[in-house]
Amino acid sequence: MPAALPEGRFSRSDGGSHDFRPALQSAVMGSSGKILALAAGSAYPSAIDDESERSMPNKVFISRLKLTDFRNYAAAALALDERHVVLTGDNGAGKTNLMEAVSLLSPGRGLRRAAYADITRVHAPGGFSIFTELEGMEGLVEIGTGIDTSDETAARRLRINGTPARTVDELTDHLRVLWLTPAMDGLFTGGSSERRRFLDRLVLSLDPAHGRRASDFERAMRSRNKLLSEGRFDPSWLTGIEEQMASLGIAMAIARQEMLGLLSRLIAETRETTPFPSAALELSGFLDGQFDRPAVDLEDAYSDMLREGRYRDAAAGRTLDGPHRADLLVRHREKDMEAERCSTGEQKALLVGLILAHARLVGNLTGHAPVLLLDEIAAHLDEGRRAALFDLIDGLGGQSFMTGTDKAMFSALGERAQSFTVAHGGITKS
Ligand SMILES: Nc1ncnc2c1ncn2[C@@H]1O[C@H](COP(=O)(O)OP(=O)(O)OP(=O)(O)O)[C@@H](O)[C@H]1O
Ligand SMILES: [Mg+2]
Repeated sequence: MPAALPEGRFSRSDGGSHDFRPALQSAVMGSSGKILALAAGSAYPSAIDDESERSMPNKVFISRLKLTDFRNYAAAALALDERHVVLTGDNGAGKTNLMEAVSLLSPGRGLRRAAYADITRVHAPGGFSIFTELEGMEGLVEIGTGIDTSDETAARRLRINGTPARTVDELTDHLRVLWLTPAMDGLFTGGSSERRRFLDRLVLSLDPAHGRRASDFERAMRSRNKLLSEGRFDPSWLTGIEEQMASLGIAMAIARQEMLGLLSRLIAETRETTPFPSAALELSGFLDGQFDRPAVDLEDAYSDMLREGRYRDAAAGRTLDGPHRADLLVRHREKDMEAERCSTGEQKALLVGLILAHARLVGNLTGHAPVLLLDEIAAHLDEGRRAALFDLIDGLGGQSFMTGTDKAMFSALGERAQSFTVAHGGITKS
C-alpha cells in the first residue's frame, strides 16, 4: 500500500537557513543523507504514489548473531536464514534478552532503555559485545557493537565492516528495528513522557536526524533554564538560546506531525485489510491547531512564547512551553473512544495495529522492511486471531523475531519461521 508524502505545507518560503521539511526530506535518507532505494531520483510524492512502487519492500535479515557477556548469555551464537525467528523457552530463559541485543542494532539504548552496565553479564570481566552479519539495506554487512568497561566514557562502540563508525546513527543506513514488548502495555494509561518517547522513536525510524534535533533542543533548553534559575536575564544571550530552541523545537514538532500524517493516512488506507482496530492519532500540548501555518510563523510564535514566559519559567524552574510538553493522543476509531478508556485487550490490539502500520510505513518509505521484535505478542490471542496476526506480520515482507513460552502457539507460521529453544543462557534450534 503506498503512503503518499504530505503536501509540503510546512516548507519554508523565506529561504531561511534551516530545512523545515525534516521528516519529509530525510524520511527517505540514511544517517549521512544518502538517498535510499525507494526514493532514488525523487523525494516527492509522485515517486511513492506511483503504481509501480507498490511491490513488497526489500527484506533485511540477520543471518548471524553472536553475543558475549550479554545479560544471561556468557557466549551464544545463532545462525539464521531470512525467515521469521521464533524463540521459545521458560520464563527467565533469555528470550527478551536476545531481542534486546537485536534492538541495540538501532541507535539508542535498546528496548529496555537500560544502562549499559546493567546489560553486561553479572560477574563478566569486561563489557558486553554483540556481533551480527546481516543482509542490510546496502547489502551484506557485519556490525559489531558493545562496551568496554575499561573505557572511561562508557560510550557504546560500533564497528561496521570492521571500521569504527562515527556515530551510532550509521546503523540506520543498514537496518531499521522496531519493537513491541509487554512493558509497553501501559503506554496509553501511563504518563505523557512515555508516549512522547514512543512517538519520537516512530519518527526516528523514518528520520534518523530527529534524535540529534531532540538532543540539541534539550541542551539549549537546559542552558536557558540555568540562566533563568541564576536570575541572569541577559536579553541578547537569552534571545540567542530561545531562537535556537525555536528552530529546533519547531523542526521536531513538524517531524512528529508529518510522521503522524503519513501514519494516519496509511492506517486509513489499510483499515479494511487488518483485523486490528485502527488508531486515530493526534498531537496536543504544543501549538495546538496551528500546524497549518508556515514553519517560519510557528518559529516566531514559539520564540515569542519563550520570551514572554521568561519570568514564569524562572519561577517554575523549567520551561513550560515546547515540544517537550507535547502528548500523543490515541483514540480507538471504530469505538470512538480514547485509548486509555479502552479495555486491556483493546489497548493491546490498538498498539499491535499501530506498530504494524508503522512497520509498513517504514517499508514503504525506505524500500526496506524493518526488523520487527515482537515480544510475547501472541500470548493473549485465540488461534484464529493469532493466525491472522502472523499473516499480517509475514505480509510486511521483513524478518520478525517473536517470543513465547509455548512453541505450539506459533504453529500457524509453519515454514515461514525458524524456531529456537532458549534455556540456561543457551540457544538451540528446535
Ligand atoms: N546483566 C545480567 N547478567 C546476568 N543475568 C541477567 C542480567 N540481566 C538480566 N539477567 C537475567 O536474564 C534472565 C533472562 O531474562 P529475560 O528477560 O530474557 O527472560 P525471558 O526468557 O524473556 O523470560 P519471560 O518469559 O519471563 O519474559 C533473567 O533471569 C535475568 O535475571
Ligand atoms: Mg521476556
